[in-house]
Amino acid sequence: MDRPYIFCHMFVSLDGKIMGNYMDLPACEAASDLFYDIAFGPEPVYRHQGWLSGRVTTDDNFTHYRTPDLIPHAPTVPAGDFVARQAPMYYVSVDPKGKLGWQSDTLTYETTTAHVVEVLTEQASNDYKAFLRRLGISYLLAGKDTLDYALALEKLKRLFGIQVLMLGGGGVLNWSFLQAGMCDELSLVVAPAADGNPRTQSLFRAQEGLSTDKPISFTLLGAEARAGSALWLRYQVNAKK
Ligand SMILES: NC(=O)c1ccc[n+]([C@@H]2O[C@H](COP(=O)([O-])OP(=O)(O)OC[C@H]3O[C@@H](n4cnc5c(N)ncnc54)[C@H](OP(=O)(O)O)[C@@H]3O)[C@@H](O)[C@H]2O)c1
Repeated sequence: MDRPYIFCHMFVSLDGKIMGNYMDLPACEAASDLFYDIAFGPEPVYRHQGWLSGRVTTDDNFTHYRTPDLIPHAPTVPAGDFVARQAPMYYVSVDPKGKLGWQSDTLTYETTTAHVVEVLTEQASNDYKAFLRRLGISYLLAGKDTLDYALALEKLKRLFGIQVLMLGGGGVLNWSFLQAGMCDELSLVVAPAADGNPRTQSLFRAQEGLSTDKPISFTLLGAEARAGSALWLRYQVNAKK
């Protein structure tokens, strides 16, 4: 399969949480800067051309649960994928049914600007695809009812030139890609904080219909203590037995 090299890069608390009020502590600032710099800073460790997010992560951070501005019964769009344009960096959102209420084809994350690419399945409506075209948002189709991982990744490489892809959360997306054998490396920035909240999302989470709790092991590639009591851990993902 011709797919990008995939590393999962995440910011976690000591109790393995990827969101929560621990993030508001000043003690997390250095770890937060480290997290950004490793992937997006002026001298990044990883040289990726895109990062992949789950639908909930996109809604929480960028589209804020807005309803997409659909024109009902839009004229039928041409079949297949839509490559609006090429860009040096892509934000790729797995949105199987086409729910995200984008307002622009471009987003900015701190100092990083990216062109939006939607990964849809055939569950997404014609009206939603017409809406993306109107905004100049690229999309690709991968799978009928469920995501065809290999096809999505092959298209990201072939249509957009993504050689290295960051798997960027949340926990549901991360675990489904790991279980599908679509992640090569794990990069964790561990913040020196926790909040013990039982309801917040953790680094990996199986979701019915997408993944199971079949275990996966990792081999340590590096462990570095950094400024502000932050830890940077790197693991190779071991093949599933
Ligand atoms: N600390 C960090 O570094 C970090 C990084 C990223 C995100 N986060 C946080 O993580 C939280 C969200 O995580 P989450 O785990 O709840 O959600 P998520 O992984 O962002 O999104 C889950 C949704 O994405 C779609 N999806 C994901 N994998 C899929 C697959 N294999 N096939 C088909 N659809 C798939 C589904 O959308 P549908 O429901 O539409 O079917 C699924 O319900 C947010 O609060 C975010 O801020 C933290």
